[in-house]
Amino acid sequence: MPFSPPSLDPSQAIFIPRGVGNAFQTLEDTTAYTYLVNDHWSADAQGQYTFLNLADETAAIEWPIPLSEAELSDKDKAHPRLADVVPMPPKKTLVVGANGQLGKALRKQYDGDTSVEFASRSEFDLGSPDAFKDRNWKNYSTVINAAAYTAVDAAETSEGREAAWATNVTAVAQLARTAIEHDLTLVHISSDYVFDGAKEIHAEAEALTPLGVYGQTKAAGDAVVSVVPRHYIVRTSWVIGEGNNFVRTMASLASRGVEPSVVSDQFGRLSFTEDIAAGIRHLLDTGAQYGTYNLSNDGEPQSWADIAADVYELSGKSRSSVTGVSTKEYFDGKDAAPRPLNSVLDLSKIKAAGFDAPAAAVRLTEYVNSTTSGFSE
Ligand SMILES: NC(=O)c1ccc[n+]([C@@H]2O[C@H](COP(=O)([O-])OP(=O)(O)OC[C@H]3O[C@@H](n4cnc5c(N)ncnc54)[C@H](OP(=O)(O)O)[C@@H]3O)[C@@H](O)[C@H]2O)c1
Repeated sequence: MPFSPPSLDPSQAIFIPRGVGNAFQTLEDTTAYTYLVNDHWSADAQGQYTFLNLADETAAIEWPIPLSEAELSDKDKAHPRLADVVPMPPKKTLVVGANGQLGKALRKQYDGDTSVEFASRSEFDLGSPDAFKDRNWKNYSTVINAAAYTAVDAAETSEGREAAWATNVTAVAQLARTAIEHDLTLVHISSDYVFDGAKEIHAEAEALTPLGVYGQTKAAGDAVVSVVPRHYIVRTSWVIGEGNNFVRTMASLASRGVEPSVVSDQFGRLSFTEDIAAGIRHLLDTGAQYGTYNLSNDGEPQSWADIAADVYELSGKSRSSVTGVSTKEYFDGKDAAPRPLNSVLDLSKIKAAGFDAPAAAVRLTEYVNSTTSGFSE
């Protein structure tokens, strides 16, 4: 159906969202028109624009001045018909820290989605101001921060404290500033270590009470990200993915016939990275309300010793190979960070948002079965 463009007078303005084509004719000499824009054309953003020929037959625009009589640039005359238009690319998502446990799971979660870019530390170092300056943020809608300084005990040393604050707080502040300036959604990962563990179960709104340096930096990072208008703080616990982690260590010990002493007075739930990645995607895809969400696997809370015994059993060894010890006994004489005794996260909020993570026991079985061959040394 032909389309007759409306005439505008000085009392009117039109809002044109990103991706909606627009063109106009001035019908009288000395007409002035004004654009208020949120972006300017630039050579490096050329791939971000798309054009339609003004004479396109399917758009069938009834131009008040026939195009044959209108003043048109050669460039405008050469624009394609609708069938040949290259669609406007969606804004991109950038995953930083993409070679960590969670980063690798996000790579799998978004496999094949060309709108998601992954940057390891060598491709985007959060500690480098140039990394922020060099990126054209106009092309992005979302940043997922899977990077962190995660060496809990090393963070208690003077070099570790500096490095932990640099990555988990100073760099996160730079990321938050970038998100605010460019209207990005920022997804950031928090930790059960922001709590002292005095409460048996932690809701999102619990006051932050971190014990050690790592927990303090994670708590400070949460406070920073909470001022970004579009943010998801995804708080997780006891992360298990592709990399060195407790389950791998236990499976390796089991394969070598070691009978370990394992802490039996810290309680929590494992969080498998494939489920954290799926939960993050769920929040983004459903446009869940911005804010903080707990996200771990579900099921009965367990101690580390319970989990170790499960790993031994799944590896065909006796549960009784694992001896429970208290945190105090285990860390006696060692330079270790204080740890919360209760790390169980209340999952009601993310469940109400429509995401149900499987029970940790289900994922543990799959994980040990799929990786047992790797522990046969
Ligand atoms: N692991 C847990 O049990 C646990 C529990 C609760 C919450 N969390 C949180 O979950 C998130 C993901 O943890 P994860 O287990 O996947 O951690 P991870 O395996 O240690 O990965 C962290 C990644 O961040 C990268 N990174 C460190 N500093 C960086 C920088 N300045 N710039 C860019 N990248 C940098 C690391 O690169 P390099 O390898 O080069 O250092 C690494 O690839 C973190 O926010 C963590 O605090 C973890």
